[in-house]
Amino acid sequence: MKVLIVGGGGREHAIAASLKKSSKVEKLYCAPGNAGISEIAECVPIGPMEFDALVSFAKEKEIDLTVVGMDDPLVGGIVDKFEEAGIRVFGPRKNAAILEGSKAFSKELMKKYSIPTAGYETFDSAEAAREYIAGLTEYPVVLKADGLALGKGVLICENREQALAGISQIMEEKKFGDAGNRLVVEEFLRGREVSVLSFVDGRTIRTMTSAQDHKRALDGDRGLNTGGMGTFSPSPFYTKEVDEFCQKNIFQPTVDAMRSEGREFKGVIFFGLMLTDKGPRVLEYNARFGDPEAQVVLPRLETDLVDVMNACIDGTLDRLPLQFADNAAVCVVLASGGYPEHYEKGRVIEGLSAFEGKNDIFCFHAGTKKDESGRVVTNGGRVLGVTALGATLKEARAAAYEATKLVSFDGMMMRHDIGRAIDEA
Ligand code: AMP
Ligand code: GLY
Repeated sequence: MKVLIVGGGGREHAIAASLKKSSKVEKLYCAPGNAGISEIAECVPIGPMEFDALVSFAKEKEIDLTVVGMDDPLVGGIVDKFEEAGIRVFGPRKNAAILEGSKAFSKELMKKYSIPTAGYETFDSAEAAREYIAGLTEYPVVLKADGLALGKGVLICENREQALAGISQIMEEKKFGDAGNRLVVEEFLRGREVSVLSFVDGRTIRTMTSAQDHKRALDGDRGLNTGGMGTFSPSPFYTKEVDEFCQKNIFQPTVDAMRSEGREFKGVIFFGLMLTDKGPRVLEYNARFGDPEAQVVLPRLETDLVDVMNACIDGTLDRLPLQFADNAAVCVVLASGGYPEHYEKGRVIEGLSAFEGKNDIFCFHAGTKKDESGRVVTNGGRVLGVTALGATLKEARAAAYEATKLVSFDGMMMRHDIGRAIDEA
C-alpha cells in the first residue's frame, strides 16, 4: 500500500513510525512532514489546508490510504473532499469533526445524551457573558473559545476581574480569532486528568491504553497552557472501575449520540477526562490522536495500525481485537525557549543520530526542518518529543530523561517533572 499522512508534527511522526512497522505499507508520503519524518517517509511540500492539491497528489501517486492527523483540516472537511474524489481516507467527516470543532456543539450533545461533563452556559455576545459573570459567586470559572485555538483557547479565571478580562480577550479582542465568536463558560472541575484515545468505526469503539498530558509550560503546572509538554502511558489512576464507568456512560454513548444525530463518527475520538470525586467527567473531545499522547500510546500498540484504520473505514472494528504491550512509555517534549509565546527558530539540533536503530527510545520530531546545508534545525515551539519505553512507568521515566541528554539545541527547554504523578499512585 501507498499511504499519505497529512500533518507535520510529533503526532504525525509517531503515526508514520507506527505505519512503517506494517508489512502492508510499501511507501509512505507525508504532507508537509518535517526533518524527522523525512527519514522514514517522502515529504511533499503541500500544506494541510490545501485540499485540492492534496487530492491531486493522492490521485497522481495512486495513494491507497490517506491518514489525517491534524484538527484543522478535519474540521475544515478534508475527509469529505477525499471521499468525493473516491480516495480512501481515515478520519471523521466535517459533520462529525465538529465534536472537536465546536465546544458549544459538544456541550449540547453531552447535555442532550446525559454524558457526564461540567455544567456550562454558552454565549453569543460579550454583553450576555458579562451579565452572567456578574451573578456568579463560585470561582475559579473556566472560559472556552468555541472553536479551534491550538489548544490554547481555555482560560481558568480565579475571580470576577479575570473573568471579565477573559471575556473581552476572547470575544472582543479576538485573541483566538473567529474561534471566539461564541463562548462557553464552564464549571471548574477538580481532580486528575486522563486522556483516553479510541478508534471508532461509526458504531463500535475500541479504546486505546490511557495517557496523561502535562499542559502547562513550567514545572509544577505553572506557566501558560501549551499544546502539551509531555505524557506518560498508561495512567495508574485510570483503573478498571473507572474504565468500566467510562465505557458504559461516556465512550459508547458518545458514539451512539453522534450516530443518532446523523453525524456518524469514523476515526479517532480523544476523550479528555477529569476524574472528580463524583466520578469521571468529559473535559473535551478531540477528533484525532493527541499530541503528545500519540507519542506514548502508538509505540505501545501491537496490532497493525493499517488493519485498525481499515476496520474503522469499513465498519468492521467489532471483529478486530486491539492489543497493547504490557509496558509503559514516557515522552518529554523539548521546546524552544520562550514557548508558548515568543521563541527563535533555526537553531541547529545536535545528537539526533544517537536514536538511530533504537527500539526502546525514540526521538519524534515536531517543529524541525533541514536547512540549506542539510542540518536539522528548530522550526517551531515544540521541537522534539523524546519517548522511552520501560517495563514500568518509573523505568520509562528514568530512561526518557536519560535520553533527553543525547540531544541539544540553543535555548532548549523542558519540564523536569513529567510523570511526577506516578509517585503518588
Ligand atoms: P481543553 O482544551 O478543553 O482540554 O482545556 C485545556 C485544559 O484546561 C484542560 O486540559 C484542563 O487542564 C483545563 N480545563 C478545561 N476545562 C476545565 C474544567 N471545566 N475544569 C478544570 N479545568 C479545566
Ligand atoms: N495533548 C492534547 C491535544 O492533543 O489536544
